[in-house]
Amino acid sequence: MYNKILKLLSDANEFISGENIANNFGITRSAVWKNINKLKNMGYNIVSINNKGYLLNKNNSLYNEFEITKNLKTKLFGKKCYFFEEIDSTNNYAKKIASDNEQEGVIVVSNFQSKGKGRLDKSWFCEKDKAIYLSLILKPNIPLTNSNRITLISGIALCKVLKNLKIDAKIKWPNDIILNNKKIAGILTELNAQIEKIHYIIMGIGINVNNTIFEKALIKKASSLFLETGEIFDRKLILNNFLLEFEKMYNEYIEFLNFEPFLNEYKSLCLNLNKNVTLKYKNKKINGKVIDISTYGSLILLDENNKKIEINSGEVSIRNTNGEYI
Ligand code: BTN
Repeated sequence: MYNKILKLLSDANEFISGENIANNFGITRSAVWKNINKLKNMGYNIVSINNKGYLLNKNNSLYNEFEITKNLKTKLFGKKCYFFEEIDSTNNYAKKIASDNEQEGVIVVSNFQSKGKGRLDKSWFCEKDKAIYLSLILKPNIPLTNSNRITLISGIALCKVLKNLKIDAKIKWPNDIILNNKKIAGILTELNAQIEKIHYIIMGIGINVNNTIFEKALIKKASSLFLETGEIFDRKLILNNFLLEFEKMYNEYIEFLNFEPFLNEYKSLCLNLNKNVTLKYKNKKINGKVIDISTYGSLILLDENNKKIEINSGEVSIRNTNGEYI
């Protein structure tokens, strides 16, 4: 009920009386009062004046389901949102509800993760109130071999959103988002599929927006938009813009399955192309030069013996041979 009252107040430009709200939803005046108090406790600034009613101050920096979805311009992505103040991992929750038949486009967002997961079985360091922890459920009816491409497309979408904020982020293959040589966002795609049918893809995205704290091991490698630019960014805006941009690109890809234009965009953002790299691959170290990205998103490498190797994402960690992180 409090969500309905919040919607009513946020659509109004003048005071709405308690009686009016009560009649609107068929509830008692005391129920209205309780719900208003709940909203105030959630951090909403609601002015209440005797004989006039309630007026919501719409300027706020709250981060919750209502605020995340209220200005969303997408057709489907994010229209249904599960929001948590804290959760172990948004990807875990999204996996659970996707197998319980939750539909494509549903998102899970949390203000904090106690067990955030990264690629290659690493953990994802989280800071409360500062970052975006988002998981998006996708159920594309496409061949399994095309699923990597969707992850690459999401990385491009995120770079585009950042570019519109004048942030020149690039991609470290397959999908680390890098700014000034430091990782500011990562994407973990988890897939449930059978032979050729994809049941669901969970696209988990972590963006360090206003973070200031990183664990020791990450200080040299990771950063946030705030630390790199000195600006505080609105997490809701970035999240909304990402969903809008990615939805457009995703639908375009799903409709025509033509990856060519996306691949060209990806290559123009990819920091590893034409660089000498060291890969850790199945407990082996491979040195080589990245000569291309394949049409399925694999890394094409020329090793020290001039042998061409194709490496699929998901299984390798990659460093420039000059010792730099990217
Ligand atoms: C990476 O290692 O680069 C991928 C990091 C992905 C982190 C995000 S945060 C939201 C979602 N939930 C998780 O537990 N992980 C992903």
